[in-house]
Amino acid sequence: MVRRRRRRTKLLLLLGLVLLVSFLVNYFYTEIRPTVIFGLRSDYAKALPFQKVPVGLESLRAEECGRCHREIYEEWKTSIHAHAYTDPFFQAYWKRDNQVWVCLNCHTPLENQQPTLIQGIPQDRVEKAIQIRNPRYDADFQQEGVTCAACHVRDGVIYGPFDDSVAPHPTEFDPGFRTTKVCYRCHNVVSGPFQFYNVGPCGTYPEYEGEYFMKEKGFICQSCHMSEVTRPVAEGGPIRQGRRHLWPGGHDPDMIKRAVAIHVQADSPVPQAGHPITFTLTLINAGAGHKIPTGDPDRHFTVEFIVRDQEGTVLDQQLETMGRWILWQPVIVEVYDNRLLPLASRDYEFTYEIPKDRKGLVVEARVRYHILTDGQHAMLREKYGLKGNDPYVFNIYSREFPLDSTLGVALNTQPLDPRVGCSSFREGTVNPTGHQIFG
Ligand code: HEC
Ligand code: HEC
Ligand code: HEC
Ligand code: HEC
Ligand code: HEC
Repeated sequence: MVRRRRRRTKLLLLLGLVLLVSFLVNYFYTEIRPTVIFGLRSDYAKALPFQKVPVGLESLRAEECGRCHREIYEEWKTSIHAHAYTDPFFQAYWKRDNQVWVCLNCHTPLENQQPTLIQGIPQDRVEKAIQIRNPRYDADFQQEGVTCAACHVRDGVIYGPFDDSVAPHPTEFDPGFRTTKVCYRCHNVVSGPFQFYNVGPCGTYPEYEGEYFMKEKGFICQSCHMSEVTRPVAEGGPIRQGRRHLWPGGHDPDMIKRAVAIHVQADSPVPQAGHPITFTLTLINAGAGHKIPTGDPDRHFTVEFIVRDQEGTVLDQQLETMGRWILWQPVIVEVYDNRLLPLASRDYEFTYEIPKDRKGLVVEARVRYHILTDGQHAMLREKYGLKGNDPYVFNIYSREFPLDSTLGVALNTQPLDPRVGCSSFREGTVNPTGHQIFG
């Protein structure tokens, strides 16, 4: 009798414990840990306020601006900002995140572009936001992503970098256009409670602040992402010094090539059969004003060495990765971050024991940039309807070195010694456009 009661008490205790644990886990995920992978900051927690059409214009659409600012419009149209909403990678990830509203505050930032209005965010919990239908929502305008008006229009006035424009619409000079202020709101995402990031996702800004390029060179985001150009700003207007509206970044292999300098060395110019040889690939962040890779935590570089014989059969290979490693569950913890700060370099070593009886061997050194991993890409395709065939891996550097007596020549004929580039860079031989910074 006593024994049976004891067993029942034990069972009840166990049940109680299970209930308590599941309650705590549930409480943690619904009340403490945010459902999105970043925290809210007061600026991007809200959409940019509703904008009316400035006097003299027919609409806020980019195409309307393009009537007079033709070249700027054509550039913007090809840019990632114009595709911040239609971007298939965004659409797939957004679907995974149950199309939560907060993403739109940067990807389609104007209230005019958003289907709902946020009336309040209890306890800063994104999923608890009180939403109502936005009667002034313009679905076509939403497709424009980060549109002209998101950066330029406030309170019926068009803000810009000049103080002497004569335009058919109201204009106002805003010195912020020649600073990083314009980029800060969206390119600096903070972490939330129980999110132990070094720097929030897509947080290029804090990786840049105070670093070499800004301190010593006075470079701002625009110096590298909006190259200078001399041209009429509007059709028929005076010729001015302005900037291209292209914002090349991680989707543009030429831009990534600009960020890195790569050089390969070997411990001996004459490989000996039966002996090991060690190759060293030096990777320098020679041209980005922030860490590489930056921003989206999926981005990473891989550095590979591949030994092949005459038939192309792979005899040996080595792969190393540069990026940030984040544990997403049960809490977000950045395990490590081995990205390169501006002007920092890293050596990647590979040792290979050359076989006695093989001829015609080559070592390929390869550096690639990945928008996301193959695994994530497959996951987005299978589960979240990732569409299109947008490339997500780019070859940044690839070169073959023969494992024979001609190795020394091959090593000496590399296009450019990055150290030379770096020192000349330090001495200030920067291309006046501020764009082609290296090489
Ligand atoms: C009917 C022609 C026309 C249209 C449409 C038009 N603009 Fe302009 N805009 C001009 C002219 C002309 C100037 C002055 C050019 C100059 O002084 O070099 C100008 C100047 C500007 C400037 C510089 C302001 C400054 O003082 O720094 C910006 C920014 C600008 N426009 C943005 C826009 C945007 C955004 C739109 C669409 C919402 C737009 N414009 C639509 C003709 C137009
Ligand atoms: C209103 C928000 C917003 C502002 C302001 C903004 N950006 Fe962006 N930017 C974005 C978003 C969102 C993306 C990502 C779009 C995508 O890939 O779907 C992006 C992408 C980029 C990229 C390309 C990344 C890639 O993967 O190719 C660069 C470079 C960039 N922005 C630079 C700038 C600079 C420089 C400024 C300031 C002049 C700026 N941005 C201002 C929201 C913004
Ligand atoms: C992500 C923010 C952003 C977006 C989107 C954007 N611009 Fe700009 N725009 C800027 C910045 C920054 C400058 C200042 C460049 C400089 O220093 O001259 C600028 C400058 C201008 C100028 C003055 C001329 C010049 O080159 O400096 C005009 C005109 C202009 N933009 C029109 C447009 C139009 C039209 C669109 C859409 C097709 C657009 N902008 C989209 C950030 C933006
Ligand atoms: C000295 C030049 C330089 C400066 C200054 C600079 N960048 Fe970059 N940025 C680059 C280069 C080169 C790349 C390409 C390498 C890469 O993607 O990692 C890049 C890449 C990027 C990307 C794309 C990341 C990706 O793959 O999605 C973003 C976003 C970006 N920069 C934003 C900014 C912002 C915001 C600022 C200002 C706070 C800034 N950059 C300042 C040179 C610069
Ligand atoms: C505070 C502004 C901000 C918010 C909020 C935001 N993003 Fe972004 N997002 C950016 C910027 C800036 C970039 C470009 C950074 C880069 O390319 O490194 C970006 C890039 C991306 C990319 C990479 C796109 C590509 O072409 O590879 C995806 C995917 C993305 N965001 C999804 C989301 C989702 C989903 C949410 C909501 C859960 C969200 N973003 C919320 C600013 C934001």
